[in-house]
Amino acid sequence: ATANIGVVGLAVMGSNLARNLASREGNTVAVFNRSRSKTDELLEAHPEAEFVPSFSYEDFAASLSKPRTAIIMVKAGRPTDFVIDELVKVFEPGDIIVDGGNALFTDTIRREKAVRETGINYVGMGVSGGEEGALLGPSIMPGGSDEAWATLGPILKSIAAVAEGEPCVTHVGHDGAGHFVKMVHNGIEYADMQLIAEAYDLIRHATGKTPAEIADVFAEWNRGELESYLIEITAEVLRQVDAETGKPLVDIILDQAGAKGTGAWTVQTALDLGVPVSGIAEATFARSLSSHPEQREVSRDLPGPDVSFGVEHLTGEDADNIIEQVRLALYASKIVAYSQGFDEIRAGAKQYDWAIDLGAVSKIFRGGCIIRAQFLNRIAEAYDAEPELPVLLTAPYFVEALGRAQSPWRNIVSLAAAAGIPAPAFSSSLAYYDGLRAERLPAALIQGQRDFFGAHTYRRIDKEGTFHTLWSGDRTEIEAEDTH
Ligand code: 6PG
Repeated sequence: ATANIGVVGLAVMGSNLARNLASREGNTVAVFNRSRSKTDELLEAHPEAEFVPSFSYEDFAASLSKPRTAIIMVKAGRPTDFVIDELVKVFEPGDIIVDGGNALFTDTIRREKAVRETGINYVGMGVSGGEEGALLGPSIMPGGSDEAWATLGPILKSIAAVAEGEPCVTHVGHDGAGHFVKMVHNGIEYADMQLIAEAYDLIRHATGKTPAEIADVFAEWNRGELESYLIEITAEVLRQVDAETGKPLVDIILDQAGAKGTGAWTVQTALDLGVPVSGIAEATFARSLSSHPEQREVSRDLPGPDVSFGVEHLTGEDADNIIEQVRLALYASKIVAYSQGFDEIRAGAKQYDWAIDLGAVSKIFRGGCIIRAQFLNRIAEAYDAEPELPVLLTAPYFVEALGRAQSPWRNIVSLAAAAGIPAPAFSSSLAYYDGLRAERLPAALIQGQRDFFGAHTYRRIDKEGTFHTLWSGDRTEIEAEDTH
Protein backbone atom coordinates (compact mmCIF):
# COMPACT_ATOMS: atom_id res chain seq x y z
CA ALA A 1 0.00 0.00 0.00
CA THR A 2 1.83 3.03 -1.25
CA ALA A 3 -0.80 5.49 -2.45
CA ASN A 4 -2.53 7.97 -0.13
CA ILE A 5 -5.31 8.78 -2.58
CA GLY A 6 -6.95 7.04 -5.52
CA VAL A 7 -8.96 8.02 -8.56
CA VAL A 8 -11.48 5.75 -10.27
CA GLY A 9 -12.52 6.77 -13.78
CA LEU A 10 -9.84 8.18 -16.03
CA ALA A 11 -11.75 10.12 -18.66
CA VAL A 12 -10.61 13.73 -19.05
CA MET A 13 -11.87 15.03 -15.68
CA GLY A 14 -10.59 11.98 -13.78
CA SER A 15 -7.16 11.97 -15.45
CA ASN A 16 -6.74 15.67 -14.93
CA LEU A 17 -7.70 15.42 -11.28
CA ALA A 18 -5.29 12.49 -10.87
CA ARG A 19 -2.51 14.50 -12.50
CA ASN A 20 -3.28 17.48 -10.29
CA LEU A 21 -3.12 15.25 -7.19
CA ALA A 22 0.13 13.62 -8.34
CA SER A 23 1.74 17.00 -8.94
CA ARG A 24 1.41 17.99 -5.27
CA GLU A 25 4.08 17.22 -2.72
CA GLY A 26 3.32 14.19 -0.59
CA ASN A 27 0.74 12.57 -2.84
CA THR A 28 1.01 9.19 -4.50
CA VAL A 29 -2.03 8.48 -6.60
CA ALA A 30 -3.61 5.10 -7.22
CA VAL A 31 -5.47 5.04 -10.54
CA PHE A 32 -8.09 2.67 -11.88
CA ASN A 33 -10.30 2.61 -14.93
CA ARG A 34 -12.90 0.07 -16.04
CA SER A 35 -11.13 -0.45 -19.34
CA ARG A 36 -7.38 -0.83 -19.14
CA SER A 37 -6.56 1.32 -22.17
CA LYS A 38 -7.35 4.62 -20.43
CA THR A 39 -4.97 3.75 -17.60
CA ASP A 40 -2.23 2.81 -20.04
CA GLU A 41 -2.74 6.05 -21.97
CA LEU A 42 -2.48 8.13 -18.81
CA LEU A 43 0.71 6.38 -17.67
CA GLU A 44 2.28 6.67 -21.09
CA ALA A 45 1.44 10.33 -21.52
CA HIS A 46 2.63 11.28 -18.03
CA PRO A 47 5.66 9.26 -17.01
CA GLU A 48 6.63 12.12 -14.68
CA ALA A 49 3.62 11.53 -12.40
CA GLU A 50 3.77 9.07 -9.52
CA PHE A 51 0.82 6.86 -10.38
CA VAL A 52 0.16 3.42 -8.97
CA PRO A 53 -1.98 1.66 -11.57
CA SER A 54 -4.32 -1.23 -10.81
CA PHE A 55 -6.42 -3.37 -13.05
CA SER A 56 -8.84 -4.82 -10.51
CA TYR A 57 -10.74 -3.31 -7.60
CA GLU A 58 -8.91 -5.68 -5.22
CA ASP A 59 -5.50 -4.46 -6.36
CA PHE A 60 -6.71 -0.88 -6.30
CA ALA A 61 -7.76 -1.25 -2.65
CA ALA A 62 -4.49 -2.98 -1.81
CA SER A 63 -2.50 -0.14 -3.33
CA LEU A 64 -4.06 2.42 -0.97
CA SER A 65 -2.83 3.16 2.56
CA LYS A 66 -5.46 3.42 5.31
CA PRO A 67 -7.83 5.05 5.64
CA ARG A 68 -8.25 4.30 1.96
CA THR A 69 -9.48 7.32 0.09
CA ALA A 70 -10.79 7.09 -3.46
CA ILE A 71 -12.37 9.74 -5.66
CA ILE A 72 -14.85 8.46 -8.23
CA MET A 73 -14.85 10.46 -11.46
CA VAL A 74 -17.35 8.63 -13.66
CA LYS A 75 -20.55 9.65 -15.42
CA ALA A 76 -23.22 10.64 -12.89
CA GLY A 77 -26.01 8.10 -12.46
CA ARG A 78 -25.80 4.33 -12.74
CA PRO A 79 -22.03 4.18 -13.41
CA THR A 80 -21.51 5.89 -10.04
CA ASP A 81 -23.68 3.32 -8.24
CA PHE A 82 -21.78 0.53 -9.94
CA VAL A 83 -18.37 1.81 -8.82
CA ILE A 84 -19.62 2.42 -5.28
CA ASP A 85 -20.83 -1.19 -5.05
CA GLU A 86 -17.44 -2.45 -6.20
CA LEU A 87 -15.49 -0.23 -3.80
CA VAL A 88 -17.71 -1.16 -0.85
CA LYS A 89 -16.76 -4.80 -1.46
CA VAL A 90 -13.02 -4.14 -1.17
CA PHE A 91 -12.91 -1.20 1.31
CA GLU A 92 -13.13 -1.39 5.11
CA PRO A 93 -14.82 0.65 7.83
CA GLY A 94 -13.15 4.05 8.16
CA ASP A 95 -12.21 4.19 4.49
CA ILE A 96 -13.56 7.02 2.35
CA ILE A 97 -15.41 6.89 -0.97
CA VAL A 98 -15.73 10.25 -2.68
CA ASP A 99 -17.99 10.97 -5.66
CA GLY A 100 -16.56 13.92 -7.60
CA GLY A 101 -19.17 13.80 -10.39
CA ASN A 102 -22.19 16.04 -10.89
CA ALA A 103 -24.53 13.82 -8.86
CA LEU A 104 -28.04 14.88 -7.96
CA PHE A 105 -27.86 15.72 -4.25
CA THR A 106 -30.76 13.45 -3.36
CA ASP A 107 -28.82 10.54 -4.91
CA THR A 108 -25.89 11.55 -2.74
CA ILE A 109 -28.08 11.58 0.37
CA ARG A 110 -29.32 8.09 -0.53
CA ARG A 111 -25.84 6.75 -1.25
CA GLU A 112 -24.32 8.27 1.87
CA LYS A 113 -26.96 6.59 3.99
CA ALA A 114 -26.44 3.21 2.37
CA VAL A 115 -22.62 3.34 2.48
CA ARG A 116 -22.57 4.63 6.08
CA GLU A 117 -24.15 1.34 7.21
CA THR A 118 -20.98 -0.48 6.16
CA GLY A 119 -18.87 1.86 8.31
CA ILE A 120 -17.29 3.36 5.22
CA ASN A 121 -17.45 7.13 4.81
CA TYR A 122 -19.18 8.49 1.74
CA VAL A 123 -18.55 12.00 0.47
CA GLY A 124 -20.47 13.67 -2.35
CA MET A 125 -18.17 16.33 -3.71
CA GLY A 126 -18.90 19.08 -6.20
CA VAL A 127 -15.99 19.92 -8.48
CA SER A 128 -16.12 22.95 -10.71
CA GLY A 129 -13.76 24.40 -13.26
CA GLY A 130 -14.05 22.09 -16.22
CA GLU A 131 -11.10 20.16 -17.56
CA GLU A 132 -8.57 22.88 -16.95
CA GLY A 133 -9.79 23.45 -13.41
CA ALA A 134 -9.46 19.76 -12.59
CA LEU A 135 -5.85 19.89 -13.74
CA LEU A 136 -4.70 23.22 -12.40
CA GLY A 137 -6.98 23.83 -9.44
CA PRO A 138 -10.74 23.49 -9.24
CA SER A 139 -13.22 24.89 -6.76
CA ILE A 140 -14.23 21.96 -4.57
CA MET A 141 -17.44 21.48 -2.61
CA PRO A 142 -17.31 18.37 -0.44
CA GLY A 143 -20.17 17.17 1.75
CA GLY A 144 -19.96 14.12 4.00
CA SER A 145 -18.89 13.54 7.59
CA ASP A 146 -16.42 15.48 9.72
CA GLU A 147 -14.39 12.29 10.04
CA ALA A 148 -13.99 12.05 6.26
CA TRP A 149 -13.18 15.75 6.02
CA ALA A 150 -10.34 15.33 8.54
CA THR A 151 -8.53 13.03 6.09
CA LEU A 152 -9.77 14.56 2.87
CA GLY A 153 -9.44 18.24 3.76
CA PRO A 154 -5.64 18.54 3.55
CA ILE A 155 -5.54 16.61 0.26
CA LEU A 156 -8.26 18.76 -1.29
CA LYS A 157 -6.66 21.96 -0.02
CA SER A 158 -3.47 20.94 -1.80
CA ILE A 159 -5.17 20.67 -5.21
CA ALA A 160 -7.82 23.39 -5.08
CA ALA A 161 -7.58 26.74 -6.80
CA VAL A 162 -6.33 29.56 -4.59
CA ALA A 163 -8.18 32.87 -4.34
CA GLU A 164 -6.97 35.74 -2.17
CA GLY A 165 -4.46 33.34 -0.62
CA GLU A 166 -7.11 30.82 0.44
CA PRO A 167 -7.76 27.39 -1.10
CA CYS A 168 -11.15 27.19 -2.82
CA VAL A 169 -12.48 24.31 -0.79
CA THR A 170 -14.60 24.11 2.33
CA HIS A 171 -16.49 21.36 4.10
CA VAL A 172 -19.89 22.52 2.93
CA GLY A 173 -22.05 20.37 5.22
CA HIS A 174 -22.90 16.71 5.74
CA ASP A 175 -24.21 14.14 3.22
CA GLY A 176 -25.55 15.86 0.07
CA ALA A 177 -24.64 19.47 0.98
CA GLY A 178 -21.64 19.60 -1.36
CA HIS A 179 -23.56 18.37 -4.38
CA PHE A 180 -26.45 20.67 -3.51
CA VAL A 181 -24.14 23.68 -3.58
CA LYS A 182 -22.54 22.47 -6.82
CA MET A 183 -26.01 22.16 -8.34
CA VAL A 184 -26.86 25.74 -7.43
CA HIS A 185 -23.45 26.85 -8.68
CA ASN A 186 -24.44 25.42 -12.04
CA GLY A 187 -27.83 27.13 -11.90
CA ILE A 188 -26.08 30.43 -11.30
CA GLU A 189 -23.74 29.54 -14.16
CA TYR A 190 -26.77 29.12 -16.45
CA ALA A 191 -28.19 32.50 -15.39
CA ASP A 192 -24.88 34.30 -15.79
CA MET A 193 -24.33 32.78 -19.25
CA GLN A 194 -27.84 33.69 -20.38
CA LEU A 195 -27.47 37.27 -19.12
CA ILE A 196 -24.19 37.63 -20.99
CA ALA A 197 -25.79 36.17 -24.11
CA GLU A 198 -28.69 38.63 -23.87
CA ALA A 199 -26.27 41.52 -23.40
CA TYR A 200 -24.39 40.47 -26.54
CA ASP A 201 -27.61 40.09 -28.51
CA LEU A 202 -28.94 43.49 -27.45
CA ILE A 203 -25.69 45.24 -28.30
CA ARG A 204 -25.56 43.54 -31.66
CA HIS A 205 -29.14 44.48 -32.56
CA ALA A 206 -28.85 48.02 -31.25
CA THR A 207 -25.49 48.95 -32.73
CA GLY A 208 -24.93 46.54 -35.59
CA LYS A 209 -21.43 45.91 -34.25
CA THR A 210 -19.72 42.73 -35.40
CA PRO A 211 -19.00 39.89 -32.98
CA ALA A 212 -15.31 40.83 -33.05
CA GLU A 213 -16.18 44.41 -32.11
CA ILE A 214 -18.44 43.16 -29.34
CA ALA A 215 -15.55 40.95 -28.18
CA ASP A 216 -13.67 44.19 -27.54
CA VAL A 217 -16.59 45.46 -25.48
CA PHE A 218 -16.51 42.34 -23.31
CA ALA A 219 -12.73 42.50 -23.00
CA GLU A 220 -13.15 46.06 -21.78
CA TRP A 221 -15.88 45.05 -19.32
CA ASN A 222 -13.55 42.40 -18.02
CA ARG A 223 -11.29 45.13 -16.72
CA GLY A 224 -14.03 46.52 -14.46
CA GLU A 225 -16.57 45.35 -11.89
CA LEU A 226 -17.83 42.62 -14.24
CA GLU A 227 -14.43 40.93 -14.34
CA SER A 228 -15.06 37.21 -14.48
CA TYR A 229 -14.16 34.00 -16.22
CA LEU A 230 -17.43 33.93 -18.18
CA ILE A 231 -16.99 37.50 -19.49
CA GLU A 232 -13.40 36.68 -20.41
CA ILE A 233 -14.28 33.55 -22.41
CA THR A 234 -17.21 35.38 -24.03
CA ALA A 235 -14.73 37.78 -25.62
CA GLU A 236 -12.68 34.82 -26.84
CA VAL A 237 -15.67 33.04 -28.35
CA LEU A 238 -16.93 36.19 -30.07
CA ARG A 239 -13.52 36.87 -31.56
CA GLN A 240 -13.20 33.39 -33.04
CA VAL A 241 -13.42 33.19 -36.84
CA ASP A 242 -14.64 30.02 -38.54
CA ALA A 243 -11.79 28.57 -40.59
CA GLU A 244 -14.09 27.14 -43.23
CA THR A 245 -16.28 30.13 -44.01
CA GLY A 246 -14.25 33.03 -42.70
CA LYS A 247 -17.32 34.17 -40.78
CA PRO A 248 -17.55 34.77 -37.03
CA LEU A 249 -17.83 31.32 -35.46
CA VAL A 250 -20.78 32.48 -33.33
CA ASP A 251 -22.75 32.97 -36.57
CA ILE A 252 -21.98 29.45 -37.71
CA ILE A 253 -22.74 27.59 -34.48
CA LEU A 254 -26.30 26.22 -34.45
CA ASP A 255 -28.33 28.36 -32.05
CA GLN A 256 -29.74 25.50 -29.98
CA ALA A 257 -28.30 25.33 -26.47
CA GLY A 258 -27.70 21.99 -24.82
CA ALA A 259 -27.90 21.16 -21.13
CA LYS A 260 -26.89 18.19 -19.05
CA GLY A 261 -29.53 18.79 -16.44
CA THR A 262 -27.99 20.57 -13.48
CA GLY A 263 -29.78 23.83 -14.33
CA ALA A 264 -33.10 22.00 -14.47
CA TRP A 265 -32.34 20.33 -11.11
CA THR A 266 -31.67 23.73 -9.58
CA VAL A 267 -35.05 24.97 -10.77
CA GLN A 268 -36.93 21.80 -9.82
CA THR A 269 -35.41 21.89 -6.36
CA ALA A 270 -36.18 25.58 -6.01
CA LEU A 271 -39.81 24.90 -6.90
CA ASP A 272 -39.95 22.25 -4.18
CA LEU A 273 -38.36 24.60 -1.69
CA GLY A 274 -40.58 27.53 -2.76
CA VAL A 275 -37.60 29.73 -3.62
CA PRO A 276 -38.06 32.10 -6.58
CA VAL A 277 -34.94 31.57 -8.68
CA SER A 278 -36.56 33.25 -11.67
CA GLY A 279 -33.28 34.24 -13.35
CA ILE A 280 -32.00 30.67 -13.26
CA ALA A 281 -35.38 29.38 -14.42
CA GLU A 282 -35.52 31.80 -17.36
CA ALA A 283 -31.99 30.84 -18.35
CA THR A 284 -32.90 27.16 -18.28
CA PHE A 285 -36.11 27.74 -20.23
CA ALA A 286 -34.28 29.94 -22.75
CA ARG A 287 -32.09 26.92 -23.55
CA SER A 288 -35.22 24.77 -23.91
CA LEU A 289 -36.89 27.30 -26.20
CA SER A 290 -33.79 27.49 -28.38
CA SER A 291 -33.78 23.73 -28.77
CA HIS A 292 -37.21 23.41 -30.36
CA PRO A 293 -36.51 24.19 -34.03
CA GLU A 294 -39.93 22.90 -35.13
CA GLN A 295 -41.71 25.40 -32.86
CA ARG A 296 -39.40 28.21 -33.83
CA GLU A 297 -39.89 27.45 -37.49
CA VAL A 298 -43.68 27.82 -37.41
CA SER A 299 -43.45 30.90 -35.20
CA ARG A 300 -41.08 32.93 -37.34
CA ASP A 301 -43.85 34.96 -39.00
CA LEU A 302 -45.77 35.80 -35.86
CA PRO A 303 -46.53 39.53 -35.63
CA GLY A 304 -43.86 41.65 -33.97
CA PRO A 305 -43.44 45.31 -33.14
CA ASP A 306 -43.47 47.94 -35.89
CA VAL A 307 -40.30 49.55 -34.71
CA SER A 308 -37.23 47.52 -34.07
CA PHE A 309 -33.54 47.91 -33.59
CA GLY A 310 -31.74 47.22 -36.79
CA VAL A 311 -33.70 49.64 -38.92
CA GLU A 312 -31.16 52.22 -37.98
CA HIS A 313 -28.25 51.22 -35.83
CA LEU A 314 -26.98 53.47 -33.10
CA THR A 315 -23.51 54.82 -33.73
CA GLY A 316 -20.84 56.90 -32.00
CA GLU A 317 -21.81 58.27 -28.63
CA ASP A 318 -25.30 56.82 -28.86
CA ALA A 319 -23.84 53.35 -29.32
CA ASP A 320 -21.40 53.87 -26.44
CA ASN A 321 -24.25 55.05 -24.30
CA ILE A 322 -26.44 52.03 -24.96
CA ILE A 323 -23.50 49.70 -24.37
CA GLU A 324 -22.89 51.28 -20.98
CA GLN A 325 -26.57 50.89 -20.16
CA VAL A 326 -26.42 47.22 -21.12
CA ARG A 327 -23.38 46.81 -18.87
CA LEU A 328 -25.19 48.26 -15.88
CA ALA A 329 -28.32 46.24 -16.61
CA LEU A 330 -26.18 43.11 -16.83
CA TYR A 331 -24.51 43.85 -13.53
CA ALA A 332 -27.82 44.49 -11.77
CA SER A 333 -29.41 41.34 -13.23
CA LYS A 334 -26.34 39.37 -12.23
CA ILE A 335 -26.68 40.56 -8.64
CA VAL A 336 -30.27 39.33 -8.69
CA ALA A 337 -29.30 35.92 -10.11
CA TYR A 338 -26.59 35.33 -7.50
CA SER A 339 -28.85 36.57 -4.74
CA GLN A 340 -31.51 34.07 -5.82
CA GLY A 341 -28.95 31.26 -5.97
CA PHE A 342 -27.67 31.96 -2.47
CA ASP A 343 -31.26 32.11 -1.31
CA GLU A 344 -31.76 28.60 -2.61
CA ILE A 345 -28.65 27.39 -0.78
CA ARG A 346 -29.98 28.90 2.43
CA ALA A 347 -33.38 27.27 1.93
CA GLY A 348 -31.75 23.92 1.11
CA ALA A 349 -29.61 24.11 4.22
CA LYS A 350 -32.71 24.70 6.32
CA GLN A 351 -34.69 21.92 4.70
CA TYR A 352 -31.92 19.31 4.88
CA ASP A 353 -30.41 20.47 8.15
CA TRP A 354 -27.01 21.41 6.78
CA ALA A 355 -24.87 24.00 8.55
CA ILE A 356 -23.84 25.81 5.38
CA ASP A 357 -21.76 28.94 5.81
CA LEU A 358 -22.80 31.14 2.87
CA GLY A 359 -19.74 33.34 3.31
CA ALA A 360 -17.45 30.32 3.03
CA VAL A 361 -19.33 29.16 -0.07
CA SER A 362 -18.95 32.56 -1.73
CA LYS A 363 -15.23 32.44 -0.95
CA ILE A 364 -14.67 29.07 -2.60
CA PHE A 365 -16.50 30.36 -5.71
CA ARG A 366 -13.86 33.09 -6.07
CA GLY A 367 -11.37 30.86 -7.84
CA GLY A 368 -11.29 27.73 -9.96
CA CYS A 369 -14.96 27.46 -10.81
CA ILE A 370 -16.90 28.56 -13.87
CA ILE A 371 -18.65 31.43 -12.06
CA ARG A 372 -15.43 32.81 -10.57
CA ALA A 373 -15.56 36.57 -10.60
CA GLN A 374 -14.36 39.73 -8.90
CA PHE A 375 -17.89 40.14 -7.75
CA LEU A 376 -17.67 37.08 -5.46
CA ASN A 377 -15.41 39.15 -3.21
CA ARG A 378 -18.32 41.53 -2.72
CA ILE A 379 -20.60 38.62 -1.82
CA ALA A 380 -18.02 37.31 0.64
CA GLU A 381 -17.78 40.78 2.21
CA ALA A 382 -21.56 40.97 2.48
CA TYR A 383 -21.75 37.67 4.38
CA ASP A 384 -18.70 38.54 6.49
CA ALA A 385 -20.47 41.70 7.60
CA GLU A 386 -23.82 39.96 8.14
CA PRO A 387 -23.76 36.16 8.08
CA GLU A 388 -27.56 35.93 8.41
CA LEU A 389 -28.30 38.46 5.67
CA PRO A 390 -31.81 37.46 4.51
CA VAL A 391 -31.53 38.85 0.97
CA LEU A 392 -28.05 39.15 -0.50
CA LEU A 393 -28.91 42.03 -2.79
CA THR A 394 -29.78 44.23 0.20
CA ALA A 395 -26.09 44.36 1.25
CA PRO A 396 -24.84 47.98 1.04
CA TYR A 397 -22.45 47.42 -1.87
CA PHE A 398 -25.19 45.85 -3.99
CA VAL A 399 -27.72 48.49 -3.05
CA GLU A 400 -25.30 51.07 -4.41
CA ALA A 401 -24.76 49.10 -7.65
CA LEU A 402 -28.49 48.52 -8.08
CA GLY A 403 -29.06 52.23 -7.48
CA ARG A 404 -26.61 53.15 -10.23
CA ALA A 405 -28.29 50.69 -12.58
CA GLN A 406 -31.87 51.79 -12.04
CA SER A 407 -32.66 53.79 -15.14
CA PRO A 408 -30.32 51.90 -17.50
CA TRP A 409 -31.76 48.56 -16.35
CA ARG A 410 -35.33 49.73 -16.88
CA ASN A 411 -34.45 51.39 -20.15
CA ILE A 412 -32.77 48.28 -21.56
CA VAL A 413 -35.66 46.02 -20.55
CA SER A 414 -38.14 48.43 -22.18
CA LEU A 415 -36.04 48.79 -25.29
CA ALA A 416 -35.79 45.03 -25.64
CA ALA A 417 -39.55 44.68 -25.25
CA ALA A 418 -40.25 47.52 -27.69
CA ALA A 419 -37.86 46.12 -30.28
CA GLY A 420 -39.02 42.53 -29.89
CA ILE A 421 -35.64 41.24 -28.73
CA PRO A 422 -36.04 38.42 -26.21
CA ALA A 423 -34.34 39.30 -22.93
CA PRO A 424 -36.00 36.89 -20.49
CA ALA A 425 -33.25 36.91 -17.88
CA PHE A 426 -32.86 40.69 -17.89
CA SER A 427 -36.57 41.31 -17.61
CA SER A 428 -37.36 38.60 -15.09
CA SER A 429 -34.54 39.82 -12.85
CA LEU A 430 -36.01 43.29 -12.90
CA ALA A 431 -39.51 41.96 -12.20
CA TYR A 432 -38.16 39.96 -9.27
CA TYR A 433 -36.40 43.03 -7.95
CA ASP A 434 -39.54 45.12 -8.19
CA GLY A 435 -41.54 42.32 -6.60
CA LEU A 436 -39.23 42.31 -3.60
CA ARG A 437 -39.42 46.09 -3.35
CA ALA A 438 -43.18 46.37 -3.62
CA GLU A 439 -45.02 47.68 -0.60
CA ARG A 440 -48.14 45.72 -1.55
CA LEU A 441 -48.33 42.85 -4.01
CA PRO A 442 -51.38 41.67 -5.92
CA ALA A 443 -50.92 38.43 -4.00
CA ALA A 444 -53.81 39.80 -1.95
CA LEU A 445 -56.03 39.43 -5.01
CA ILE A 446 -54.75 35.89 -5.59
CA GLN A 447 -55.78 35.06 -2.02
CA GLY A 448 -59.21 36.56 -2.70
CA GLN A 449 -59.60 34.47 -5.84
CA ARG A 450 -58.48 31.32 -4.05
CA ASP A 451 -60.95 31.98 -1.30
CA PHE A 452 -63.70 32.60 -3.87
CA PHE A 453 -63.43 29.36 -5.78
CA GLY A 454 -61.96 27.03 -3.20
CA ALA A 455 -62.64 28.50 0.25
CA HIS A 456 -58.88 28.49 0.74
CA THR A 457 -59.16 31.30 3.31
CA TYR A 458 -57.00 34.39 3.81
CA ARG A 459 -55.42 36.38 6.60
CA ARG A 460 -56.06 40.06 7.23
CA ILE A 461 -53.62 42.89 7.69
CA ASP A 462 -55.43 44.24 10.71
CA LYS A 463 -56.08 41.27 12.97
CA GLU A 464 -54.93 37.75 13.76
CA GLY A 465 -56.78 34.69 12.49
CA THR A 466 -57.89 33.07 9.26
CA PHE A 467 -60.98 34.19 7.39
CA HIS A 468 -63.33 33.19 4.63
CA THR A 469 -65.93 35.25 2.82
CA LEU A 470 -69.20 33.46 2.07
CA TRP A 471 -68.91 34.26 -1.62
CA SER A 472 -71.86 32.17 -2.76
CA GLY A 473 -73.97 33.24 0.20
CA ASP A 474 -74.49 36.69 1.64
CA ARG A 475 -70.78 37.57 1.32
CA THR A 476 -70.24 38.16 4.98
CA GLU A 477 -66.90 37.16 6.46
CA ILE A 478 -66.47 34.32 8.90
CA GLU A 479 -63.50 33.03 10.85
CA ALA A 480 -62.33 29.79 9.34
CA GLU A 481 -59.73 27.10 9.72
CA ASP A 482 -56.50 27.77 7.87
CA THR A 483 -56.32 25.53 4.79
CA HIS A 484 -53.36 27.34 3.16
C1 6PG B 1 -18.36 23.29 -13.89
C2 6PG B 1 -19.50 23.10 -14.86
C3 6PG B 1 -19.68 21.68 -15.26
C4 6PG B 1 -20.92 21.46 -16.11
C5 6PG B 1 -20.77 21.89 -17.51
C6 6PG B 1 -21.90 21.45 -18.44
O1 6PG B 1 -18.65 23.84 -12.84
O2 6PG B 1 -17.23 22.92 -14.18
O3 6PG B 1 -20.67 23.52 -14.24
O4 6PG B 1 -19.78 20.92 -14.10
O5 6PG B 1 -21.24 20.13 -16.13
O6 6PG B 1 -20.59 23.26 -17.58
O7 6PG B 1 -23.13 21.95 -18.06
P1 6PG B 1 -24.33 21.94 -19.12
O8 6PG B 1 -24.04 20.89 -20.14
O9 6PG B 1 -25.57 21.62 -18.36
O10 6PG B 1 -24.34 23.30 -19.72
